[in-house]
Amino acid sequence: MKHKVAPSLLAADFTRLAEEIQFINDSEADWLHLDVMDGRFVPNITFGMLMVDAARKICNKPLDVHLMIEEPEKYISDFRKAGADIITVHIEACPHLHRTLQQIRETGAQAGVALNPHTPVSALEDVIEDLDLVCVMSVNPGFGGQKFIYNTLPKLRRLKDLVTVRNAQVLIEVDGGVGLQNAEKILQAGADVLVAGSSVYKAEDPADAVARLKDIGGE
Ligand code: DX5
Ligand code: ZN
Repeated sequence: MKHKVAPSLLAADFTRLAEEIQFINDSEADWLHLDVMDGRFVPNITFGMLMVDAARKICNKPLDVHLMIEEPEKYISDFRKAGADIITVHIEACPHLHRTLQQIRETGAQAGVALNPHTPVSALEDVIEDLDLVCVMSVNPGFGGQKFIYNTLPKLRRLKDLVTVRNAQVLIEVDGGVGLQNAEKILQAGADVLVAGSSVYKAEDPADAVARLKDIGGE
């Protein structure tokens, strides 16, 4: 399967949000990635369901909603109602992860789990069949434009092995510091979805940046 590219709206020009979201429809982007931050789980505050709802009205591709918030279980149905197709929670914020994943799937959304850089792949061993996507953070969550942590590459290979051995129907997403300079290595290590904020929205030609990220590995 050809890998997917999910531009992160966090790096967009917020004075031109409608156009920046419309760009997803007009480019080769597969999904729009939306970073929800609460100022508690991460040291930054971004936006909530109102933004997802607004994006839904413009975007005709799947909305990949990354919840960097505490107690995400309280807001899952709200984000689903707002139009999220994939809802990703952080494993570090979920003491009852299995229940939270079930809750996401019951809304009809796909269930994702994000791992901070220090969280080992082994934390997923008993839950890998209960999720649709694993988001491997390749920066410490909270801000766009950070440097890719290279230790993510062996971590991706370990995750790919786990998914293969268990024959799990799980997409591997990589989030943070992804761009043309490292995308090939990330894909070779096992990624299926590249989240790209700055490397797309801050590029001189964002559509070309998406096309080039899609082109890696041929086809
Ligand atoms: C970081 C967010 C990322 C971020 C990626 O906490 O989860 O999705 O927007 O931005 P770049 O690609 O600029 O690192
Ligand atoms: Zn994200």
